[in-house]
Amino acid sequence: MPHPYATHVGVRRLVTAAIAAPSVHNTQPWFFRLDEDAAVMELHADTGRGLPVIDPRGRALHISCGAALFNLRLAIRVTGHRPLIEPFPDAARRPDLLAAVRAADAPMPSPSLAELYATIPHRRTNRRPFGKRRVPQVVRDELAAAAREEGAVLNLPGPQTTAYLLGLIAAADAKLVADPAYLAELARWTPDRTRGDGVPWYSFGPRPTGRGLPLRDFGPEGPAGGRDVDDFAARPQLGVLLTRGDGPQDWLRAGQALQRVLLTAARRGVSSSLLSQLLDARGSGPAEPQPHGHIQAIIRFGYGPLVPGTPRRPFPEVLERV
Ligand SMILES: Cc1cc2nc3c(=O)[nH]c(=O)nc-3n(C[C@H](O)[C@H](O)[C@H](O)COP(=O)(O)O)c2cc1C
Repeated sequence: MPHPYATHVGVRRLVTAAIAAPSVHNTQPWFFRLDEDAAVMELHADTGRGLPVIDPRGRALHISCGAALFNLRLAIRVTGHRPLIEPFPDAARRPDLLAAVRAADAPMPSPSLAELYATIPHRRTNRRPFGKRRVPQVVRDELAAAAREEGAVLNLPGPQTTAYLLGLIAAADAKLVADPAYLAELARWTPDRTRGDGVPWYSFGPRPTGRGLPLRDFGPEGPAGGRDVDDFAARPQLGVLLTRGDGPQDWLRAGQALQRVLLTAARRGVSSSLLSQLLDARGSGPAEPQPHGHIQAIIRFGYGPLVPGTPRRPFPEVLERV
């Protein structure tokens, strides 16, 4: 197989896979710089796309970039190469340079990795109600193993801890929606006309009935009118993703683990969405360290309907060749 950076089509395929990653408020806070002569692709954080109100430390920004890095790794792997990742190659002088990515020859990947790659365009954040069917133990084990592969931990809490966590998320959400700065920032990333970034109105999902599930409320309505109201399961299957530390390296790791978990779920037909209000700076700030480390993401898993994809910025905006 030719080197993954050798042709324009090849590079386009890699970057297209990378930018299909989820990102907080669909900010897509990344850009790529390819040095063709040195055969190195750099992943940079685009801090101008950060969220100073809910994410002043750039935690969610790094997680988003980590998710893109995982997709890039998979896309390189399926070309019969092994990605060689150097995280933060110049941390002191260029902290926004998150990774230098090279590629070495390798045998073709296992069918399961190739399937994970093929799942990239089908993974979506699904904010609709999930059905009653429970996520089977064998799939829950696979999700936890996916996080472990990336050096993180995924806990899948039982009903009591789930109820406790949902209570904390609801309290954080109530605090956020009373904060004008939070609402102004959210409004900037929920455009009422089609744009290449931000969360589009058609993916807000319905509002939960009653006190329902504390999903993040992205806004009142779309151009077609008010949002529906629907019943959501009160005790969904949650996943809590943790890392040992809580700095940029850990966040980049958390993003890769998150994406491996989400793709593993999607590959098994399991839908997912995130409930991050508890981790937002103005929700309740960084959560207390838990026995297994620091909470980096809270995920809802289940079986939901198909939902449309969200927009991405055009490819030339995110790739620079030097
Ligand atoms: C770090 C991070 C935090 C997120 N937090 C939330 C959240 O609190 N609520 C939510 O509905 N979606 C959340 N998302 C999902 C993004 O809004 C979603 O990835 C983005 O809109 C792009 O859509 P897609 O995932 O369908 O491609 C989060 C994503 C990331 C990476």
